[in-house]
Amino acid sequence: MTTVLRKPAEFRQVCDDARANSHRVGLVPTMGALHEGHFSLIDEAKKRADFIAATLFVNPLQFAPDEDLDRYPRTLESDLAGCSQRGVDVVFAPEPDSMYPAHFQTQVSVSELTKPLEGGFRPAHFDGVTTVVAKLFNLTGPCTAMFGRKDYQQWKILSRLAHDLDMPIEVVGCPIVRESDGLALSSRNRYLSASERERALSIVSGLRRAHDAWAEGDRSVETLRTLAAERVRAEFDAVDYVSVVDPDTLLTPAESANRLLIAVAAHLGTTRLIDNVVLGEDPRP
Ligand code: PAF
Repeated sequence: MTTVLRKPAEFRQVCDDARANSHRVGLVPTMGALHEGHFSLIDEAKKRADFIAATLFVNPLQFAPDEDLDRYPRTLESDLAGCSQRGVDVVFAPEPDSMYPAHFQTQVSVSELTKPLEGGFRPAHFDGVTTVVAKLFNLTGPCTAMFGRKDYQQWKILSRLAHDLDMPIEVVGCPIVRESDGLALSSRNRYLSASERERALSIVSGLRRAHDAWAEGDRSVETLRTLAAERVRAEFDAVDYVSVVDPDTLLTPAESANRLLIAVAAHLGTTRLIDNVVLGEDPRP
């Protein structure tokens, strides 16, 4: 049976007890609205730890005032059922007031990796993410924590955070899980109308085009970028970026790079989708 806790102190106690009983604690932080992508994180956590904590918290700090905090899907009952079915030991689902009580005033911030890509369009977003994840790391004391690589930049930033602050936590980036037609799973996919859902496939089609060109030996950053961007621009209402960067620094890649990250963020109506592939590392999406 999965235990569900709302209060940070109670959650901390349960995790402390697990560690005191020699369990390896694995953490799966989420904002709920769980799908197979999240469940793959739980499955991976179970390979690396024997006491699994999942968190369900729509973190207000990481949403800008004009973003979708209020309409972000909240599906607590089915999330709990899914966690229980997949073998999560404890679920932490706090209220915002218990995570950010009156007089809360501390921010955790990673300076450089947060600037490119998403940083250009969601300026305060990653400070919200790093602050809440630092709190979740401190409450849980995990030895391992799982994040999805659909949020590739987030994974890199959180790895940096743990490393820089000497947190003894393995920050694992798990592969993107896709629908059978290639659409990357996202809690936001449920906002899409049927026709938007169809047009959304242009992202994976653009990424595949670049992946195929890379496989055939094309190493021109501009060509690879254009191949992906053409598809996305043809279908999306607005494109924030289609960028080709170094997968580790997220900056301009070296001429002879043997791995390249292509990352995309674009809007269909009021829905913003992101996706990516690492050429030279990931299989064809
Ligand atoms: O990726 C997410 O769902 C969130 O950004 C996270 C890591 C749970 C922090 O709120």
